[in-house]
Amino acid sequence: MSARIIDGSAIAAAVRSEIKAEVERLKAEHGVIPGLATVLIGDDPASATYVRNKRRACAEVGIQSFGYELPATISQDELLQLLSELSARCDVHGILVQLPLPSHIDARRVVEAIPIQKDVDGFHPANLGLLGVKGAHVPFAPCTPQGCVELLERSGVQIGGRRAVVLGRSTIVGLPTALMLLARDATVTICHSKTPNIAQVTRSADILVAAIGRPRFVTADMVKPDAVVIDVGINRLADPSDPRGFRLVGDVDFDEVREVASAITPVPGGVGPMTIAMLLRNTLRAALNQLTAAC
Ligand code: GUN
Repeated sequence: MSARIIDGSAIAAAVRSEIKAEVERLKAEHGVIPGLATVLIGDDPASATYVRNKRRACAEVGIQSFGYELPATISQDELLQLLSELSARCDVHGILVQLPLPSHIDARRVVEAIPIQKDVDGFHPANLGLLGVKGAHVPFAPCTPQGCVELLERSGVQIGGRRAVVLGRSTIVGLPTALMLLARDATVTICHSKTPNIAQVTRSADILVAAIGRPRFVTADMVKPDAVVIDVGINRLADPSDPRGFRLVGDVDFDEVREVASAITPVPGGVGPMTIAMLLRNTLRAALNQLTAAC
């Protein structure tokens, strides 16, 4: 039987309407409008699309966004100067620097230049590190991992006691997703490019999260019957028949795997909209946390 489709667009719409109501309440009770600064460097079309979508989503829920578009030639010092100015602004509650950055800029220094109370991407090591501390309050979990977990929870998928396999160990997706599933009592394995016999490991998964950035890497033979499959991949495949010249596919061979899994997220319309919804939620939380700050 074909898998249930986990509709990330619908779940994200429900989250956005909750956020919109909270944003209105914050404005009515405290006169505060949550503000997000987005920093886009260079002219990568995919990054530009992501940032545009994030800013549009902000506007839809009543969050102000302040967009900064900088040339790829900007120096690291100039970027750090901008971040320092944004950090000091009272109307900017969250700061997002879209990754990847040009190679002459040290991404780690940039991420660490964002104050942790404005780190709505959850990429600062202080935020990421807390994901591994049992029982700790994590101010901002990174948006894509949070989106994966929220999709599972809102779809009624039990995480505790299940075997989860995460494909990919990136600092911003694979590793934090694994830590968040572990914190919810899953038994977690991470696979990466040096893992031998990946299919044998993925076949043990009750919950399989694919985040390796390789189009349609996960095939039906790699999936245990009735597993829940979360596809984080957003890969552009050339397609002359599409007006954009490309189409998006995930890290999972959707048509094949849906015949084996019990539930699966599509691409597009799965994790992508949830990532943005979680960014809005983090920005709202940042604004709420900063109500009592000196500003
Ligand atoms: N690049 C890919 N995903 C992300 C994300 O969630 N946040 C930022 N800032 N850059 C990204």
